[in-house]
Amino acid sequence: MHLIDLITRKRDGGRISPDEWRTFAVDYAAGKFRDYQVAALLMAVFFRGLDDEETYALMEGMLDSGARLDFSHLGSAAIDKHSTGGVGDKVSIILAPLVAACGVVVPMISGRALGHTGGTLDKLESIPGFNTRLSMAAARAQVERLGCMLIGQTDEIAPADRKLYALRDATATVEAIPLIAASIMSKKLAEGLGGLVLDVKTGAGAFLPETERALELAQTMIAIGERRGCPVVVLLTSMDHPLGVACGNALEVEESLDVLRGGGPADTRELTLALGAEMLVLGGAATDAGEARSRLEHALNTGAALQKFRQVIEAQGGDPRVVDTPGEVLPQAAEQLMFFSHRSGFIQRVEPRVIGRGIIALGGGRTTMEDTIDASVGFRILVKPGDHIMRGQPLAAILARDAAGAELGSACVKEAIIIGDEEPARVPLISHRVTGRGVETLTK
Ligand code: URA
Repeated sequence: MHLIDLITRKRDGGRISPDEWRTFAVDYAAGKFRDYQVAALLMAVFFRGLDDEETYALMEGMLDSGARLDFSHLGSAAIDKHSTGGVGDKVSIILAPLVAACGVVVPMISGRALGHTGGTLDKLESIPGFNTRLSMAAARAQVERLGCMLIGQTDEIAPADRKLYALRDATATVEAIPLIAASIMSKKLAEGLGGLVLDVKTGAGAFLPETERALELAQTMIAIGERRGCPVVVLLTSMDHPLGVACGNALEVEESLDVLRGGGPADTRELTLALGAEMLVLGGAATDAGEARSRLEHALNTGAALQKFRQVIEAQGGDPRVVDTPGEVLPQAAEQLMFFSHRSGFIQRVEPRVIGRGIIALGGGRTTMEDTIDASVGFRILVKPGDHIMRGQPLAAILARDAAGAELGSACVKEAIIIGDEEPARVPLISHRVTGRGVETLTK
């Protein structure tokens, strides 16, 4: 296969056949193409799009580029959740051990930071020693023992997604429905799932801010899942402002622990419970959302979810003391600066993209594939849109490596948090529920 032919055809608005897409994905994972040519192909796809058959074939090639896990012998369905990406979204870290503590098998494969959004793997790796690159054998053994793993793509599992994901991140080719759908569904289907819950973000900080495009992405992924016999439930949720308070890798692990202890910010807890309830129902551990929520709340209140997280950390080589004394185990930023409001009024907006890019500027994200991450930096955003605040009130804490970083973070908070006189309209946290049967509008 000559990649230049595919690039030329897609650039000119032509179609790449399903066989060509499958071969492309498998061969790219095997190291047969140069990144600069694949980058050009991705950009052509970004502008020209893929039809449903092309998207499915790309996804299938990505899936076939590695091995597949199979947990059918465990006697209960394996269920997972994935998000299309946000700022401050640490829900996966909470959800995997929480749902596993309720008896559902959760073999979670996550991604790294992408564009302005954070990545579950980068967050988990802020726990000293935590290994997100388990071999197939180790992953299988851990899920059999604990009912849960939190890993990333490897050379064995979804390798094409690992390479394409990193390349898209460095070439501004993330925001394309077929590429997002193929990326998410290939790694999720590699887990051998009996059901999948997807959190598709909408709003200013989402890769696809408009509701119509988010719905199109949801329906694309549902169709792929159904074609492979994997039921998919999607919640469309707001990424109009960062989720929770903590934004930054180690800070988000700390906040995840707060939620696992039964506390944490209300929006983070609510989204976790809503997604978790869907997972429990899909996995047959509850008959309806009400029963599922009480089981999840019980696992939080009794410490069962926290204990499961401790076991997963230990099993994956991380320092389990992080659970009890996160401040002593997680990396800490050298500088902390509070940002105070210069006026009274209502918070109009907290721009998630500005905060996400701010984390990268502080050293907490990547701008090239080779960059390393400083897990200690980030923000604690202390206000939400709709809050009434007084002049002099603290709006955010900036956590930086040095004084220059703190100044940079301060400029970023100033740009992100917009204050006005009128109380803004409320944006629901969860706006739609989408399944193979159709779209329900919600108002939560
Ligand atoms: N999450 C993924 O795994 N892939 C994408 O392309 C976007 C979000």
